[in-house]
Amino acid sequence: MSTAKFFKNFLTDTKVGALTPTSLHTIRQLCNRIGLDHSRVIVEYGPGTGVFGEFLLERMPAASELIMIETNPVFCEMLKRFEDPRAHVFNDSAENVRDVLSQCNEDSADCIISGIPFTLFGERLRRRVIENTRSALTENGRFFVCQYSTFVKKYLKDHFGQVTVDMGLFNIPPMFILEAFD
Ligand SMILES: C[S@@+](CC[C@H](N)C(=O)[O-])C[C@H]1O[C@@H](n2cnc3c(N)ncnc32)[C@H](O)[C@@H]1O
Repeated sequence: MSTAKFFKNFLTDTKVGALTPTSLHTIRQLCNRIGLDHSRVIVEYGPGTGVFGEFLLERMPAASELIMIETNPVFCEMLKRFEDPRAHVFNDSAENVRDVLSQCNEDSADCIISGIPFTLFGERLRRRVIENTRSALTENGRFFVCQYSTFVKKYLKDHFGQVTVDMGLFNIPPMFILEAFD
């Protein structure tokens, strides 16, 4: 059901940028690196049908928050199924993360996960999202990026001291997980 909706939106929205949602193996691989006990505020860019949200909300402590920022209004409607006070959905663009955080009465995020298709963005938007992400994170905050190429690595390196790259597990097509931090 969620995969069919995802594919339908891939056909109608050029910003979706993938045929199917991320695999459960890759989601688990990435989320195991977050350190959920130390991440009170988690932001997700481009949650799509909410596959990361399903995984995270089952495991996040009661006092944590998951703030999802999604441009596609159909996906935003689907994300409202999370009847969980820790889940917040914003029909907005990732570049406005600071504004979204302040609407949630938060100054910064401990962790930001991104599934947005940076390769489809223009240079200006790509740079703005990464710059605003760095300033929205706490000093020790981490930015996780799921992409079908490592193209975005050089942009991450302009704002973060360290960037690591891993292959996502059992994802078709193959996916990279980039982790940026200082
Ligand atoms: C490749 S899909 C990933 C969906 C989901 N994270 C997953 O793992 O299955 C990219 C998502 O990013 C959203 N998106 C594209 N540009 C965005 C932007 N500037 N801000 C927020 N979301 C965006 C798309 O609508 C789509 O839901």
